[in-house]
Amino acid sequence: TDRYCVFGHPVGHSKSPAIHAAFAGQTGDDIEYVAIEAPLDDFAGAWRRFVSEGGRGANVTVPFKEEAFRLCDTLSLRGRRAGAVNTLILGGNGLSNDFKVYGDTTDGVGLVRDLRRHGVELAGARILVLGAGGAVRGVLEPLLVEGPVSVRVANRTAAKAEVLAADFRDLGEIAGGGFDAVEGPYDLVINGTSASLAGDLPPLPDDLFAPEATAHDMMYGAEPTVFLRWAAERGAHTVDGLGMLVEQAAESFFQWRGRRPDTAPVLEMLRQAL
Ligand code: ATR
Repeated sequence: TDRYCVFGHPVGHSKSPAIHAAFAGQTGDDIEYVAIEAPLDDFAGAWRRFVSEGGRGANVTVPFKEEAFRLCDTLSLRGRRAGAVNTLILGGNGLSNDFKVYGDTTDGVGLVRDLRRHGVELAGARILVLGAGGAVRGVLEPLLVEGPVSVRVANRTAAKAEVLAADFRDLGEIAGGGFDAVEGPYDLVINGTSASLAGDLPPLPDDLFAPEATAHDMMYGAEPTVFLRWAAERGAHTVDGLGMLVEQAAESFFQWRGRRPDTAPVLEMLRQAL
């Protein structure tokens, strides 16, 4: 049995153990996957302990993704770009066995796969991303490499969006600013703020969406978020963050095990349980 886990704080609510158990059930991989609440001041110690007990890899969630990034010996390009990782692999990606720590971030590719599953065309799209925190930083590279016409990053604190856009400018047409600089219409609007948690809606113009536009919220719940309700009222297709969650997990599973699970039945299972 190979051991994996998700580190977080808190982590009790994590759906990752159920997702990976379902993946392993499909592929026949003999793995154990648990949730571990690492102490806020000693993530590195928790990881070392897990490794000494036979751990092979881990997912990392809030608030440890930046710390996980710092303890990696080797990083994927997208992980280096993101400055944060959600996937740790011991011994590289199977090519080396020297117990080095390899880090990757699979959130962005998870988002892109889920959007593709919903038939969203990213090449040539006008994209608006709301928020400029870690969650947004993690998805910009995979979005930009799909070849959108433009990406605008809008944030409550405008300066943070400007810095973020500058960091990714070499990858495509990207600009950052405050919500007041938002000028539609957009084909795709991604909410990467944590405003939904507080039931808040960023101040957005009514003519934000192009015809057939899609609104995506990285959050999910039994009920649509405030942002998705607002978007639906304005005619946009809506996609919540549950699919992204399952797709990022599938990419991590692939990194560890070399096999791609079928995400559709797992997403369906989680949806039923919300
Ligand atoms: P995460 O890792 O989830 O991205 P974060 O780095 O703390 O968390 O970023 C949270 C994001 O949500 C930020 O873009 C934040 O805006 P500020 O940079 O101006 O703080 C945004 N955010 C949080 N609460 C918000 C609210 N009520 N309205 C609008 N934006 C909000």
